[in-house]
Amino acid sequence: MPVSTVLRTLLLAVSVAKVAAGILPSYSHAHLHHPRATANATANLTDLQTWWHANGENNTKTPVQNDNVRQSHLYSIQVALASAPTSYYHSFVYETIPRNGNGKICTPGDLTSLCDTDDQISIEPDIGITMAWTQFLYQDDVVVKVSRSNGLAISAANVLVRPSYLNFTITASGADVLITVPYNPNGIRFSVELQDDLWVYRNAGTGADSYYVQNINPEGAGYVQNYTNDMPTVGVEPRNALLIFASPFPTPDLVPNDHVNTLYVEPGLVTGLDSTSKSIVYFAPGVYYFTGTAHAILSSSVSWVYFAPGAYVKGAVEYSSSAPCLKATGFGVLSGEQYVYQANTDAGYANIKSDTSSLHMWRGDFQTNQTWTVHGVTMNAPPFNSMDFYGDVGASSVYISDYKQVGAFFGQTDGMEMYPYSYARDIFYHTGDDTIKTYYSNIVAERMVVWKTSNAPIIQFGWSQRNLTNITVDSIDVIHTRYHTQAEEYPRALIGSAASYTDATSTLTADINSYISNYTVSNWRAEGISPALIGINPLANIDNFHIENIWIEELANQTTLIDMSTIRVFTDANHGNQPIQIGQNSPDNIGLTIKDYYVGDTHITLADDNWDSLSQGRLNIDSSYWGRWTAV
Ligand SMILES: *[C@@H]1O[C@H](CO)[C@@H](O)[C@H](O)[C@H]1NC(C)=O
Ligand SMILES: *[C@@H]1O[C@H](CO)[C@@H](O)[C@H](O)[C@H]1NC(C)=O
Ligand SMILES: *[C@@H]1O[C@H](CO)[C@@H](O)[C@H](O)[C@H]1NC(C)=O
Ligand SMILES: *[C@@H]1O[C@H](CO)[C@@H](O)[C@H](O)[C@H]1NC(C)=O
Ligand SMILES: *[C@@H]1O[C@H](CO)[C@@H](O)[C@H](O)[C@H]1NC(C)=O
Ligand SMILES: *[C@@H]1O[C@H](CO)[C@@H](O)[C@H](O)[C@H]1NC(C)=O
Ligand SMILES: *[C@@H]1O[C@H](CO)[C@@H](O)[C@H](O)[C@H]1NC(C)=O
Ligand SMILES: *[C@@H]1O[C@H](CO)[C@@H](O)[C@H](O)[C@H]1NC(C)=O
Ligand SMILES: *[C@@H]1O[C@H](CO)[C@@H](O)[C@H](O)[C@H]1NC(C)=O
Ligand SMILES: *[C@@H]1O[C@H](CO)[C@@H](O)[C@H](O)[C@H]1NC(C)=O
Repeated sequence: MPVSTVLRTLLLAVSVAKVAAGILPSYSHAHLHHPRATANATANLTDLQTWWHANGENNTKTPVQNDNVRQSHLYSIQVALASAPTSYYHSFVYETIPRNGNGKICTPGDLTSLCDTDDQISIEPDIGITMAWTQFLYQDDVVVKVSRSNGLAISAANVLVRPSYLNFTITASGADVLITVPYNPNGIRFSVELQDDLWVYRNAGTGADSYYVQNINPEGAGYVQNYTNDMPTVGVEPRNALLIFASPFPTPDLVPNDHVNTLYVEPGLVTGLDSTSKSIVYFAPGVYYFTGTAHAILSSSVSWVYFAPGAYVKGAVEYSSSAPCLKATGFGVLSGEQYVYQANTDAGYANIKSDTSSLHMWRGDFQTNQTWTVHGVTMNAPPFNSMDFYGDVGASSVYISDYKQVGAFFGQTDGMEMYPYSYARDIFYHTGDDTIKTYYSNIVAERMVVWKTSNAPIIQFGWSQRNLTNITVDSIDVIHTRYHTQAEEYPRALIGSAASYTDATSTLTADINSYISNYTVSNWRAEGISPALIGINPLANIDNFHIENIWIEELANQTTLIDMSTIRVFTDANHGNQPIQIGQNSPDNIGLTIKDYYVGDTHITLADDNWDSLSQGRLNIDSSYWGRWTAV
């Protein structure tokens, strides 16, 4: 270990008191130039704000103490303004791990309650997967210094930032690396990936029951002594992920300023939010927890939950207010880490799946014309579908921006619902399930960075018959996907629709009176190994579906079938088994247009005859039946 690294590691571990008392010297060149430097000096400037948790716990194996925050065991981050590149400020690096260190338990708080329910985590804990992140506020270009505490220097050439087009300037500084991050009014969410610390996911071979294998932990899941040729690579991810979330400062409407109507929650165990008469629940910097058998059931007076920067709330939020505008804002964290998978609130929060009573991290009961605004929050470790509102969802909207979902290692960890006239933008999604859920009309989803694990497509518009129109999904950067199997009725694809939820394998559940139209998916980049472009089980007619400007770096290995795009033929049993139609109500009768679709450097078109199931485009679309589509 180089001397500078030893010093840094030591100093990070000592208390600030010693530094403040002058017992310990400043320890990095950057700090020598700045009088405010201490082991965790944070920035409280007009153009940079960082924060710190005094009770970070370095622990990659077990649940952390109630009052602690899991801290990266590996990374530390300092941030400087690019205009003052010698004044570095600490930015706390959080960490999340598969199953939150609980093991595969089914009863909250009982580490012996192991059960067989498949949570869709397999080899991840056994190969040491972790995910770290930091969040800061900025109003000008900054330099982010990344240090690693394992004694290995980071060279600039060893760093890959994803999305890869970001093209940040990266330079080495001793054993650390400096990444210059330009100011962006929409914020920037990116992954820092050290190329000497990658895990190559392979599956066990072909077939519907394939699974991930690993060759380093004989006690662990999916262990094989040696990989063989029939175990193809299905994904490559950092073993210790590091995400950076740089956000502009919030506008005044996103920060409460009404002391009379605010409940300032005391850190520690939180109870009683169901009986407050205040309208704002305010989590100041600090650590809060509800335990694995409770969550924030808000009284009907509460319309706004605020998570200050530096607030870390172990819980889940359920609204009951009928106020017209509900809110959840602030740059704090809402973490589901104390819950077991599929925590069922009607069954003592035990792992018993129920679509309605398994715990959603966000839940509400919409009255007609209610809206919900979400901004700034990072949501960690959801135990189930991350968000569902009930009530009059067809006449309510959500406005989601600068939102981050991390630690979604469990399988059923969807993205947010978007009700009619909703938008979702400037989002980072780590998800295990349906991610961009377009189940309603008149919605916009844009500027998202997606890191997707083993289940479901990224866009989902299926599961039941729907009338959908005026949907835009634009500027999506898929930085990782990994799947171990394909399933036609529950496709793995960038854009997909699952077969009927009630009748999974039937082709007789389509509705020839329902229409999906005016749906545009544009400007996607899928880095690394990607699943198929589309996997559609059409339960309704399709018109004016446009897929434009899509780049897939590399499709998954053909032996897995994960790369194969499909559109199946569905019929309507209630109307003489008539097949549903593509393009009957479209101009030129073209229902589906795929335009500027590239796999690697290859432009996939009908004219070039490189689209079909045997060619690079891998579009297994029966053109004799589905004549009404085009690829240009
Ligand atoms: C940050 O600065 C503001 C304005 O000077 C001050 O009110 C606030 O207390 C400071 N916060 C911290 C955590 O030092
Ligand atoms: C870090 O800084 C904060 C306030 O700036 C302080 O409360 C805390 O005790 C410090 N020390 C550690 C080890 O986090
Ligand atoms: C955190 O834990 C890891 C693994 O036990 C150890 O190598 C590292 O030095 C620790 N870091 C700190 C800052 O304590
Ligand atoms: C990346 O940035 C460098 C300078 O930082 C510039 O020279 C180069 O052209 C950029 N590349 C792209 C593809 O934008
Ligand atoms: C499997 O790998 C081990 C260690 O790398 C090697 O010693 C052994 O010969 C391999 N076995 C086979 C059957 O290839
Ligand atoms: C695809 O996987 C097969 C094994 O199933 C392997 O033989 C082949 O080399 C792989 N192809 C690529 C391009 O990786
Ligand atoms: C909901 O909003 C619409 C459009 O503004 C209005 O016509 C309707 O009356 C509202 N419904 C209720 C129950 O407030
Ligand atoms: C389409 O949806 C957007 C986003 O909700 C909305 O602003 C626009 O008015 C809708 N267009 C029509 C024709 O309804
Ligand atoms: C879609 O709208 C049509 C026409 O109003 C209606 O017949 C059909 O039942 C609707 N489909 C669904 C799934 O609501
Ligand atoms: C789809 O868009 C076209 C062109 O703007 C419009 O004429 C048509 O009414 C839209 N379809 C629906 C169902 O709104």
